[in-house]
Amino acid sequence: MVRLALDPSLIPSPRPSKLAELSSCEDAGATLIEGDNLDALELLCAGAQRFELIYLDPPFFTQRQHRRTKRKRRAKGDIARTESDAFDDRWPSLDVYLATLQARLARLRSLLTDDGSVVIHVDPNTSHYIKVMCDELFGDGCFASEIVWRYRRWPAKTKNFQRVHDVLLRYVKDPKATPRFHQLYEPLAPSTLATWGKSKQRADVDANGRRRRSTKTAEDSPGTPMGDVWEIGVIAPVARERTGYPTQKPEALLRRIVQGLSLEGDAVLDPYVGSGTTLAVAAALGRRAVGLDQSPEAIAVATSRLEAQGVALRRARVEPLSSR
Ligand SMILES: C[S@@+](CC[C@H](N)C(=O)[O-])C[C@H]1O[C@@H](n2cnc3c(N)ncnc32)[C@H](O)[C@@H]1O
Repeated sequence: MVRLALDPSLIPSPRPSKLAELSSCEDAGATLIEGDNLDALELLCAGAQRFELIYLDPPFFTQRQHRRTKRKRRAKGDIARTESDAFDDRWPSLDVYLATLQARLARLRSLLTDDGSVVIHVDPNTSHYIKVMCDELFGDGCFASEIVWRYRRWPAKTKNFQRVHDVLLRYVKDPKATPRFHQLYEPLAPSTLATWGKSKQRADVDANGRRRRSTKTAEDSPGTPMGDVWEIGVIAPVARERTGYPTQKPEALLRRIVQGLSLEGDAVLDPYVGSGTTLAVAAALGRRAVGLDQSPEAIAVATSRLEAQGVALRRARVEPLSSR
């Protein structure tokens, strides 16, 4: 196994911290915790709650300060735009970025149920380092899939092929456990439809075990089992789900992840919750969800999004003890 030689002194440790301001709400569909996720994860690890699905969309090492754009229609009918800081993705080095992520991933692994999976959403600039790091952290047999999210974006002329995909790495906690997995389907290929129509095919084998031409059945086919390249559009500028929070992911992408990798009633965790996409989708699909973020802007956006959706919400804050 290839190892990523990170300097151990770069890997941060959580500070002693406490959960403050946990406003209780019976049957909460979602919980939002504000604060550094390393501190929050350490507190969650000390508790009993484990998660069937963890999805994380951390900063991508863009070396940029990301800003939120708010649009407001004025009385005159034109749109006023205001900007505010959302989150900082500037790092002293790639090693510090990877070490920061590694400390979180180690705790996320402990928070998974044995049949659960973690999906790490990154881009091709860092995904190869993160895969090597996770192969070592999760261990043999735990890498489950690399999903390519392919999207269309405004064309830009550069002296390169335009990047139109992100990478989602899926790891399981225990390779011996039957994974939580709900089969999803995509539409049949035009060539299959032309040959077979919508009917389900049956694979036939002869007496020597050789495949014969498939035969049609009377049943309709549900489609082709979902592959690992997903074509899903980015959020349209006028879409209702758009919050203006930078790097917001489409609900359609999260719906596929939540439906494919968890069941109704399961617990879902997003430690980099941003505008709350994972929680909004998980709550709509009957999952209990916990989201963490250190940006007050993210917490404000996610709170109003979930409240507008009518989700029963619990709010909490993690404070380092030293700051009391
Ligand atoms: C790429 S955005 C997530 C976007 C989100 N998936 C969505 O659909 O809106 C990453 C988020 O991680 C948060 N974040 C970065 N480092 C963090 C940390 N150490 N603790 C908690 N949140 C953090 C940022 O504030 C930002 O909101």
